[in-house]
Amino acid sequence: MWPESRAALPPVSCWSDDSRADCGVVKMNQKTEPKIAMMMAMDRNRLIGRNGQMPWHIPGEMAYFKAVTMGKPLIMGRKTYDSIGRPLPGRPNIVITRNSDWTADGVHVAAGLDEAMIKARALAVEAQSDELMIIGGAVICREAMPVTQRLYLTVVDHEYEGDTWLDSFQWADWQVVSKDVRDLESTGGVPVTYWVLEKSRTPGLSAA
Ligand SMILES: NC(=O)c1ccc[n+]([C@@H]2O[C@H](COP(=O)([O-])OP(=O)(O)OC[C@H]3O[C@@H](n4cnc5c(N)ncnc54)[C@H](OP(=O)(O)O)[C@@H]3O)[C@@H](O)[C@H]2O)c1
Repeated sequence: MWPESRAALPPVSCWSDDSRADCGVVKMNQKTEPKIAMMMAMDRNRLIGRNGQMPWHIPGEMAYFKAVTMGKPLIMGRKTYDSIGRPLPGRPNIVITRNSDWTADGVHVAAGLDEAMIKARALAVEAQSDELMIIGGAVICREAMPVTQRLYLTVVDHEYEGDTWLDSFQWADWQVVSKDVRDLESTGGVPVTYWVLEKSRTPGLSAA
């Protein structure tokens, strides 16, 4: 069961399965805990956004996003929510904002990442989901990257114009679980690879 009080919980930084972390608390049962996963798409320069929107439209990408995230709690920044414009169906949506007046129908609101994680974990347990998903944008990823255990990373091997980058991502922090190079016909001619990565135990060792 989840403790009722937020104060009773360890900070988010203690929620990774990194055994080096000494948080002075009894660690949660990792076998039954949903994994903290992130799903992002970036170009070859780690670009992720442009004018509050995605810099590209690639056939198949949204279907892949939907397939991976369906049924799982989603955590996102308020600007990412605005770029989508509505709650994504079939998944609990949790939006992080500092604006205490902010509301949207069908959306859970959180004042920060810790609170969002608490809500997402409870919702994941309720839905028997093995993962909770952080889906951006760059600001939320910066805070969540250190505790993220699995990363679904779509890499579009092209250079786009934009203003928002996944600057918290470093290949050296991750090891490859799987790599799916899409055929050009299915992506409209743009080289796209779907990577699944897990946090490397030995920073600096990477297959990429
Ligand atoms: N390529 C991809 O996979 C992908 C995925 C997602 C988003 N994007 C793109 O990324 C861009 C948006 O990203 P972004 O980095 O600008 O914004 P963001 O991370 O989506 O949202 C930032 C907002 O989240 C809230 N927030 C952030 N940290 C907080 C904290 N510690 N406590 C409370 N609230 C906090 C604040 O909302 P308030 O201002 O309301 O307080 C802040 O303005 C868009 O262009 C979007 O299309 C791309």
